[in-house]
Amino acid sequence: MKYLIINGSPRKKNTWSMVKQAKTNLGEDAEFEEVQLMKEKIPMCNGCFKCIMEGEENCPHHETVNPIIEKIRWADGIIIACPVYAMNVTALLKNFFDHTAYIYHRPEFFDKKALVVVSTAGAGQKDVANYIDETLRHWGFNKIYQIKYAFGGKEEINTEEINKISQKFHKDVSSKKLHSPKIGDIIFYNVWRAMAPKSDTMKKDKEYWESTGLVNYEFAPDVNLGIFKKLFGKIMYFILNRVMK
Ligand SMILES: Cc1cc2nc3c(=O)[nH]c(=O)nc-3n(C[C@H](O)[C@H](O)[C@H](O)COP(=O)(O)O)c2cc1C
Repeated sequence: MKYLIINGSPRKKNTWSMVKQAKTNLGEDAEFEEVQLMKEKIPMCNGCFKCIMEGEENCPHHETVNPIIEKIRWADGIIIACPVYAMNVTALLKNFFDHTAYIYHRPEFFDKKALVVVSTAGAGQKDVANYIDETLRHWGFNKIYQIKYAFGGKEEINTEEINKISQKFHKDVSSKKLHSPKIGDIIFYNVWRAMAPKSDTMKKDKEYWESTGLVNYEFAPDVNLGIFKKLFGKIMYFILNRVMK
């Protein structure tokens, strides 16, 4: 399996030691790519809206950001590692996420799974892991696993917990099985599905939803919804379509 690791810490220390342990459970034939956001030197998002309105290729930082997006496309599973900074993700990771805001509008990673690894001194790990989790779900990610740990002045890591969760992640990535999405994900999908084709200003969104054919489905077609969630998606779309007239 192919794994991409994105490190949101400016250094390779606490969170990285957790990632290193997780890597030992991802199979002997695993291929890894690493993105150290500190080295990427992505300029701050300048809020020009070009990625959303005109297409991501028009982002002034496209040449720096897009190779990372291509690596996500390449990977079967991604690992996002991040320490808690001031009760949030690091500015490095947030700045990367800001550059991917267009993917909320045009989600594409429906066959991807992720492992989120968060470390902290003592607080904030749950909220930070959940925020990363939520971001990935907006990108379309199928399943997200979380490993969180408070170092609290210690050096050692929670090896047993890391092994347990990373083994599950690896087994799931290898299975290539696609899980049924959460209700919230179906709602978000159908908000964009109803909104994008009607928009005269968001031409890129309209083009994406129509050209991929996603506009015709209750959720990404490769993901099996089951009868009840499919029906839910249909009802949601019907309502949203009327509301957004
Ligand atoms: C600028 C900065 C802000 C931090 N903010 C918090 C915080 O709000 N809460 C907390 O418990 N730990 C905080 N920490 C501690 C780190 O989250 C913790 O040491 C983490 O394990 C560092 O991971 P790393 O070695 O991978 O960078 C902060 C550390 C730094 C450098």
